[in-house]
Amino acid sequence: AWGALALLSCRVQAWKDAGLPLSTHARKYVKWTNDKSLGGIEGCLSKLKAADPTFVMGHAISNGLVLIGTGSSVRLDKELDQAVKTMVEISKTQPLTRREQLHVSAVETFAEGNFPKACELWEQILRDHPTDMLALKFSHDAYFYLGYQEQMRDSVARIYPFWTPDIPLSSYVKGIYSFGLMETNFYDQAAKLAREALAINPTDAWSVHTIAHVHEMKAEVKEGLEFMQRSENHWKDSDMLACHNYWHWALYLIEKVRRPSILPSLQASGAMLDVVDSCSMLYRLQMEGVSVGQRWQDVLPVTRKHSRDHVLLFNDAHFLMASLGARDPQPTQELLATLRDASESPGENCQHRLARDVGLPLCQALVEAEGGNPDRVVELLLPIRYRIVQIGGSNAQRDVFNQLLIHAALNCTSSVHKNVARSLLMERDALKPNSPLTERLMRKAATVHLMQ
Ligand SMILES: *[C@@H]1O[C@H](CO)[C@@H](O)[C@H](O)[C@H]1NC(C)=O
Ligand SMILES: [Fe+2]
Repeated sequence: AWGALALLSCRVQAWKDAGLPLSTHARKYVKWTNDKSLGGIEGCLSKLKAADPTFVMGHAISNGLVLIGTGSSVRLDKELDQAVKTMVEISKTQPLTRREQLHVSAVETFAEGNFPKACELWEQILRDHPTDMLALKFSHDAYFYLGYQEQMRDSVARIYPFWTPDIPLSSYVKGIYSFGLMETNFYDQAAKLAREALAINPTDAWSVHTIAHVHEMKAEVKEGLEFMQRSENHWKDSDMLACHNYWHWALYLIEKVRRPSILPSLQASGAMLDVVDSCSMLYRLQMEGVSVGQRWQDVLPVTRKHSRDHVLLFNDAHFLMASLGARDPQPTQELLATLRDASESPGENCQHRLARDVGLPLCQALVEAEGGNPDRVVELLLPIRYRIVQIGGSNAQRDVFNQLLIHAALNCTSSVHKNVARSLLMERDALKPNSPLTERLMRKAATVHLMQ
């Protein structure tokens, strides 16, 4: 998600390096750098569009970046809608290569919320142009939003051999591949590739991130903490990923000491990823019994603006944590009502289609947890627990919902749910042995059991 923007400059650079057949001479106007004096990549792209408004790939790149980042960030508003329409109109007025046509269609399809179809179009590009970084990264991020973990891995596996070391940015492809391997539990292969990438470019914050995940998934708390500390100087200035890497750092601290008195500074970039990370962190701390007090009031002004977006169910659930945490019924009601409407609307928006079976029960479970109805939480979450992956995000991010289910099961009064917590904890321990957090919950489960 996040990664999307971290690799922004790389993508655009790759576009140029791959020598794509551009339709106009616009290329010469572009300075392909993330030079802040140019306003970063977005500044470059708007200069590019201003210089030649008919340069269709400029539109495809900038719309794609906004949308993909948005899945995580900006609201799908009228302006963006218009930008996509403009891109499509311009594309009809000029002869485009097949590759360019596919890029335009993919971005248009993604904007309509049909992520699987957009991925098919990007994959068509990759079959003929395996070093198209833009198609690679866009599809990778879209798979991430879909929770298509195998595709996230295999999509890169298919093109990986074409990225020979002489091709600029090939080390970043190692990082992208490593993330798909990690999410499908090939931890050793993932760590090996990420380390290779870091040997070439130690500031590759995405490869750092894969290693952070590997330590997280294996409950290697000490190794994780040491790794983050050792590498911090290399990624702390990464504008889009620093905050998320600090979030991973904080996860180790919760594992280790439950109530960390000091959390690493979350230098929020304002990106949506940082907003959902903040919600996730506060929610986890709250489950550990930490009183987070006013902190919810700090995130609510940001999240409440997105109550009606429904761009990603993953984000919706996190926005809801904020309005529930801040005990503000208005954004809670607004989010739930508009999500219900979206779930009943026609169309091919994959998030709206998934809302009925997964998004709404998940959101309702958060509401019930806040309302002190743990039995209802279990009734809602238990039947969908193996489908929550479909709302996207990483295994580590979605673990907040696993934890919620266990906490609710521990609080249950109904005898029907008596052994749910115990069985969930045994499963958790089998998958991720030696987790201090799991051990704490097991101790609690044992106490609850004695009392019954
Ligand atoms: C479980 O009970 C504790 C103590 O009453 C409460 O603070 C917590 O919110 C409850 N959690 C859930 C998920 O029901
Ligand atoms: Fe992550």
